Amino acid sequence: MDQIITLEEVKKHRRKSSVWMVIHNDVYDVTSFLEEHPGGEDSLLEVAGKDGTQGFEDVGHSDDARELLKKYKIGSLPPQQKTSFIQDCSKLKWAVLALAGAIVLGFVIKKAMNK
Ligand code: HEM
Repeated sequence: MDQIITLEEVKKHRRKSSVWMVIHNDVYDVTSFLEEHPGGEDSLLEVAGKDGTQGFEDVGHSDDARELLKKYKIGSLPPQQKTSFIQDCSKLKWAVLALAGAIVLGFVIKKAMNK
């Protein structure tokens, strides 16, 4: 079973002596990885005690890097603190709906003006 670790607990580990971070709702202890990180320790320290998912994904880490993650995983966020994929998708869904709505509205206005 996964160890449940809250965001409040992760927040306490943001100093070089102990660096934890959240990536995709899982908690990682990267303290021993700081010096080994090919992207430097600063990029890791920047998101220490926080959610580093965005930073991790922005870089476009390789499959090797993703494989390496497993080594440092110490637990997961409690379900109520997880950022769900569905939530992310629903944002996209609204954006697409809004765009579709704008296009339809455009057509309706155009038609009305042609009358
Ligand atoms: C436990 C978490 C992480 C692991 C295991 C990891 C691993 C790696 C590895 C193996 C590389 C070499 C390139 C590759 O294979 O993709 C790399 C590069 C890099 N990483 Fe990470 N990384 C982690 C977290 C992060 C985070 C949170 C950030 C930024 C907020 C970051 C920023 C970078 C940058 C800037 C590079 C250099 C890319 C380049 O030179 O092209 N990494 N990382």
